[in-house]
Amino acid sequence: MTASELFEGRLIMAPMTRGTDLPFRRLAREWGAEVCVGEMAYAHKVVSGQRGELALLRRHEDERVFGVQLAGKRPEVLAEAARIAADRGADFVDINLGCPIDDAVRRGFGAALLRRASRVAELVEAMKRAVSIPVTIKLRTGWSSEKPTFLKVARAACEAGVDAITLHARSRNQRYRRAADWSAVAQLVEAVEVPVIGNGDVFDWRDARARLERSGCAAVMVGRWALAKPWIFRSYAEERDIEPDAEERLAILRRYVELCRETFGDDELGRRRTRRFLGFHQDFFYRYRRDAGVDAVNSVDPRDWGAPPENELESWLCRADAGAVDALCDWLVDGREPLAPPPPERPSRAFKVKAYG
Ligand SMILES: Cc1cc2nc3c(=O)[nH]c(=O)nc-3n(C[C@H](O)[C@H](O)[C@H](O)COP(=O)(O)O)c2cc1C
Repeated sequence: MTASELFEGRLIMAPMTRGTDLPFRRLAREWGAEVCVGEMAYAHKVVSGQRGELALLRRHEDERVFGVQLAGKRPEVLAEAARIAADRGADFVDINLGCPIDDAVRRGFGAALLRRASRVAELVEAMKRAVSIPVTIKLRTGWSSEKPTFLKVARAACEAGVDAITLHARSRNQRYRRAADWSAVAQLVEAVEVPVIGNGDVFDWRDARARLERSGCAAVMVGRWALAKPWIFRSYAEERDIEPDAEERLAILRRYVELCRETFGDDELGRRRTRRFLGFHQDFFYRYRRDAGVDAVNSVDPRDWGAPPENELESWLCRADAGAVDALCDWLVDGREPLAPPPPERPSRAFKVKAYG
């Protein structure tokens, strides 16, 4: 399939380390996601056959369109990793040009490539030679907001044959501190012929549709709010608000645990992994409140927003401190009796990942 066929008009789930694990992608699929990108995989580790990295390339037969995102800086390594991903069933391969974490950029991966347009072209060229599936890139506006480089990098990638470009409309240095600048997405649409996928701060289906229209991009990508509200995909497809109550949200968490069990197994190791993933996801899932606005994802405590929780279950589900998460895992993963009332608060563990692309 061409990039246009894969992406046109879609709400795409962004690649997220720890966030777009296979069970969560299946959950999103059940809620209408058509296109998902997996967790970033390091190309050199894929090529050297490291098990943990190869696991990130795994897709489920239920998934409609699955993209593998690769991080790397050497053309021959990325080409080989792309070939491996294609052999294992990826529908497209994406190069990470946005990962801001020090460990990656120090080694010349991710956002470090925003300053090396000609190298990006070499990477794309090598991957295009290696695979017949679409090759895409995901970039930020530049290293710093003062010096945007996305147009230069995007044009170089287009000359090398890239099939589509995702722009997370923030610079590397900005992280999430300021709102995404969607005028940059519109600028990119004007500058290139290939489909552009706009990304940054998409909050709900209305927002996604409005940004699609205003910027002229081919598709919209959603990250954090897909973790908080996996039903956002159905909401977008059907153009209606979906506002699950606490019981319905608990059922979604239960389903996620079931999908984890299928993926990771039900032995001790599998349960440990499921607990880890559930803990990570609860750190986003808890941010949903029916009356919460777009600020919610960046604010501290969802119980402060809007109306107070309607019942005990809801007040539990809008917590992600260690006490609540442990009790939730005991309940949903290990099958223990739920604690009622929910346990006292204990400080949060550091679930948040730094690998934001
Ligand atoms: C937990 C988490 C992990 C992420 N990991 C990646 C990643 O591996 N690769 C990538 O390109 N972007 C990654 N990102 C960035 C997202 O793909 C997306 O560009 C960003 O969150 C902006 O979209 P949003 O405002 O809809 O969240 C990550 C974001 C989050 C929240």
